[in-house]
Amino acid sequence: MTEQPSLHLGVNCPGHGSYRNAWRRAGIDPLGTANPDFYVRIAQTAERGLFDAVFTADVPALTPTWASEPQRATLDPILALTAAAQQTERVGVVATVSSSWHHPFNLARSIATLDRISHGRAGWNVVTSYNPLVSPNYGLAELPPKEQRYARADEFLDVVLELWRTWAPDAIVADKASGRYAVPERVRPISHRGEFFEVTGGGLVPPSEQGLPVVFQAGASPEGLELAARHADATFVAAATPEAAREYRDRLDATAATVRAPGRKPVLALPGLVLWFGSTDEEARRRRDELADPESEAATLGMLAQRLGIPAAEIDLDGPLPLDAAHFAAQKRHTSEGFLRSLAALGESGRTVREIVRDGVGHLTVTGGPKTVADTIEAWFATGTVDGFNLMFDVIDESFEPFVDEVVPILQERGLFRRHYTGSTLREHLGLPVPTW
Ligand SMILES: Cc1cc2nc3c(=O)[nH]c(=O)nc-3n(C[C@H](O)[C@H](O)[C@H](O)COP(=O)(O)O)c2cc1C
Repeated sequence: MTEQPSLHLGVNCPGHGSYRNAWRRAGIDPLGTANPDFYVRIAQTAERGLFDAVFTADVPALTPTWASEPQRATLDPILALTAAAQQTERVGVVATVSSSWHHPFNLARSIATLDRISHGRAGWNVVTSYNPLVSPNYGLAELPPKEQRYARADEFLDVVLELWRTWAPDAIVADKASGRYAVPERVRPISHRGEFFEVTGGGLVPPSEQGLPVVFQAGASPEGLELAARHADATFVAAATPEAAREYRDRLDATAATVRAPGRKPVLALPGLVLWFGSTDEEARRRRDELADPESEAATLGMLAQRLGIPAAEIDLDGPLPLDAAHFAAQKRHTSEGFLRSLAALGESGRTVREIVRDGVGHLTVTGGPKTVADTIEAWFATGTVDGFNLMFDVIDESFEPFVDEVVPILQERGLFRRHYTGSTLREHLGLPVPTW
């Protein structure tokens, strides 16, 4: 068997794109992300580009800007990806769902159903939520403290994984002649009594072609890393600089050394990569300037202010990032530590706030043409700190197709990326074994 290149690529579709006014561009259907066709189209393009997966970030809150832009989290991710899965054959479908609000039985059943509908291409990205606007939708005035959210997430995952393992892959014999449907010793009911959940019974959905759905995790506090090391196959990472990626990898490895099951494959780390893309560097820069309107910059500054916990009006655009060690220590409890660490790395690189706002307030951001983008991907991948990227585009309906046509061939030429799918499940794309029962 020939060794497959191991770079992994996902495409994240949070709304129409990273550019806030993407929905107002000529040719973009403003209601696009509220229609299943959008997800189908992205998934089909991803499959044409041999991507590992389509990924949906999700912050289920009615954002205050509802009068001037579409909601980013419009459709339920699992249902939207179900539509996408039915119109594709190979690409993985990874839905973000927070463990802070739902019941593990429902989540386990929905993701396992997506896994069967997609014939083994489903993944669940476990988050615990960080945006305080989400909680009122679930009846709470405030987000529960982070330690509590992660304690719940840990137990939530224990339950989900046990439910997914109810049926052994060979449990169902379906012998019509004898009337024997399943082998009793190959079915394992669950009897869970924990701090947050009591679940007695069992999962209903038999395993798909990949055995168990793939578990992703996003969040880089010590609790988040522990959750990932204990349960996840892969993580979605915020690392805007190579130093941030190295630090993340070292922290994750150190955590895994203490809590990951011996012999289990290391967690794959996929940082977000935001692209302001053009057919040449010059065109990408022109495009970046064209897409830099005051409204969008104010929105990005607002996001930065929220992450820092400092009112936007108090931030000096031409000064250094106001994030010293004391502020970091206090603020990390109130936001995602993963994003805050990435921001801190940007601050340490000497950029002013204005430069940070222009170039991205958390994820690695590149403005460039195909070669520049491929060079960046190659250089980061060569460090061994990352296993690939989860891509985000300025305007997804404008830039994703050109990426597939112009960057993927360069990555293939350089021997970094697959030339065809060798498997049909998400586990196979990611090089993950089917878990034993
Ligand atoms: C790269 C990245 C992506 C994330 N995506 C989401 C998301 O889509 N929805 C969400 O509710 N939380 C998301 N989170 C945050 C998680 O909810 C996380 O459980 C919580 O904020 C705590 O983060 P922390 O462990 O980094 O402090 C993300 C975090 C990171 C670092």
